[in-house]
Amino acid sequence: MERAWWKEAIVYEIYPRSFMDSDGDGVGDLRGIISRLDYLKELGIDVIWLAPVYQSPNDDNGYDISDYQAIMKEFGTMEDFDEMLEGIHARGMRLVMDLVVNHTSDEHAWFVESRSSKTNPYRDYYFWREGKDGREPNNWGSCFSGSAWKYDETTDMYFLHVFSKKQPDLNWDNPKVREDVFSMMNWWCEKGIDGFRMDVISFISKEEGLPDGPKFPGALHGFPRCVNGPHVHEYLQEMNREVLSKYDLMTVGECSGVTIEEAKKYARADGKELSMVFQFEHVGLDDGKFGKWTDRRMELKGFREVMSKWQTELEGKAWNSLFLGNHDQPRSISRFGNDDPRYREVCAKMLATCIHMMQGTPYLYQGEELGMTNCPFETLEELRDIESINAFHELTESGKIDPEDMMRYINLRGRDNARTPMQWDDSANAGFTTGTPWIKVNPNYTKINAMAQQKDPNSVFHYYQKLHRLRKEEDVIVYGKYQLLEPESESLYVYTRTLEKDKLLVICNFTDQEVSYRIPEEFSNGRILIGNLREEGTSAEETVQLKPYEAIVLKVVQE
Ligand code: GLC
Repeated sequence: MERAWWKEAIVYEIYPRSFMDSDGDGVGDLRGIISRLDYLKELGIDVIWLAPVYQSPNDDNGYDISDYQAIMKEFGTMEDFDEMLEGIHARGMRLVMDLVVNHTSDEHAWFVESRSSKTNPYRDYYFWREGKDGREPNNWGSCFSGSAWKYDETTDMYFLHVFSKKQPDLNWDNPKVREDVFSMMNWWCEKGIDGFRMDVISFISKEEGLPDGPKFPGALHGFPRCVNGPHVHEYLQEMNREVLSKYDLMTVGECSGVTIEEAKKYARADGKELSMVFQFEHVGLDDGKFGKWTDRRMELKGFREVMSKWQTELEGKAWNSLFLGNHDQPRSISRFGNDDPRYREVCAKMLATCIHMMQGTPYLYQGEELGMTNCPFETLEELRDIESINAFHELTESGKIDPEDMMRYINLRGRDNARTPMQWDDSANAGFTTGTPWIKVNPNYTKINAMAQQKDPNSVFHYYQKLHRLRKEEDVIVYGKYQLLEPESESLYVYTRTLEKDKLLVICNFTDQEVSYRIPEEFSNGRILIGNLREEGTSAEETVQLKPYEAIVLKVVQE
């Protein structure tokens, strides 16, 4: 397997609105990030993925961009950005920017022009269609509820928005759109950034003629018509020629709906498209009839099967990305683990071990290194996320879900869980702001915060630090081959990693019960490389008795 810096890197996602506020307006900003760069360095991460900081009316917290080459006023200035980039590089870290080019804001100059008349030169930058029998042009639904089309009086036509009404989809079939996007990307690369995380990039090529999608209950009828479309690989290869290949970048495509076969194309090993993709199969396993709005829990069996499939099938062909949480997902400890105070810390470490020992580039979402949990939201007024708010109205007003149940589902699965302010210390507002935070602070910040964990050598923070150090020391963690053991176990996730003579055995107990496990013969002389309850360097018994949520990594000692 070919080596690459981005295969060996640990990535940390910053959601700037909630990371650190420097000026007391209740909204995180770039100077806030600058003030916490030493913290990130101490944690041992290599790359920061920065969620959008571009100018935006914030219908979807910056994923609706009105100027790609300006910084959002609330976040600071371009000078702040340059200083932040310099500070990141000075500490030996790199910066990956969010690239949101499936759509713009409706306040972007291209759309303002496009909307103004049927003959405007920018008309074809977006999808404009006539209505059909007094209705929308097709049956596609928006990811944020309702139809994916909005009627516009100016020219008596509809425009397509797969996300919110303020996020019109760009028409990538128009070569001028591609040219403008590529030149904007080159501009950022010339500034010295180190890569892009490409927002919903699997959506940029729509099926020709925009035909109706197959109907299935509670889902977006248009989804299969929008993802992995006929020209997506052609456009990404063009992007690679025009931009990516000219710089030393790390790129990751957010690819909902991606299959293994598709991933092999997006992240092809010859580097003609992207470095890697985010796949979402493991975070769709707990979906129900109404998609994510359910109280279903993920089962170990399904999780293990999906993770193992991606590990084995991409081996040598394309590179994996590893994540349990991000700004669109609930907190990983609450969802995959157990956030009960009795188990929270040990369980957060177990989940970290399970993911970080796999093949691929690990992504950590801000606060995950502290074991931050979901936040109790009591009323609709406390919510900020357009997705949850719209879904609440759509599903309760149509009588499909009872309001109380819906609130419970939002508490389990809503995106605001990940967006509450970073918990820095036990002072007011968790040390995030001296003002009024834009979204509520999780009340558990007095117990769970960075300052307390930095002081405690047994904290989740320090455990992540160790994992990060190990990845630098042990090639087998990065490049080793994965093999699943115990595929039928009800409680354990067990796998091995092998790189020539180096061999690791990873055992994770996913339950709150004690479980015994007989160590396979070839690991009998193994020593603990890392464990959340055992001391490093010690050996294990022939049959280990794993405590609730215990994780053990054994490394074979070479004779
Ligand atoms: C991606 C982003 C999400 C955003 C959506 C539309 O899924 O991660 O936050 O709402 O794209 O841009």
